Amino acid sequence: MFTVGIIISSDKGSRGEREDLSGKIIKNKMEQNGYEVIDYIIVPDEKLMLEEAMISMCDKKKIDLILTSGGTGFSKRDVTPEATMNVIDRQTPGISEAIRYYSLQITPKAMLSRAVSGIRKDSLIINLPGSPKAVEESIDFLLPVLDHGLEILKGTASECARK
Ligand code: MTE
Repeated sequence: MFTVGIIISSDKGSRGEREDLSGKIIKNKMEQNGYEVIDYIIVPDEKLMLEEAMISMCDKKKIDLILTSGGTGFSKRDVTPEATMNVIDRQTPGISEAIRYYSLQITPKAMLSRAVSGIRKDSLIINLPGSPKAVEESIDFLLPVLDHGLEILKGTASECARK
């Protein structure tokens, strides 16, 4: 069972002024699909705080998968991709490109997400947009492939099955 950490990037959410529906959706979806959610925090849209949260989940708590939500748009306060880029060792652009490609078939506004993803040590970090709708759509698309990527990262599947 892979472990999951959720980081919600939201000024209003961190002040308790907005209910965090996106985090709840991520938690439910991941648990329904056999993942164990062991950490879940809401932080303001502050680059350093986001970086600290990601580093703590990867290095101290050794969480396999970190899903962030929010802060990927064009607002001046949207800094989740920059924080992610600062902490990852290797980019996994295919994941973010694929989510955007899939999402574009649902709404052209998907092109406005600057989400990135990558690997820090033994953990995979994936940015998701902030809205509950976008989160749900992105996770449904991601889930069928996620296990295989994590198995390779953790060394439990060394090769892809070849026909
Ligand atoms: N992706 C999906 N699948 N569905 C959506 O409704 N909304 C977009 C985009 N990605 C959307 C989506 C919108 S409107 C924006 S502004 C960007 O994500 C950035 O969102 P964020 O700033 O909340 O991270």
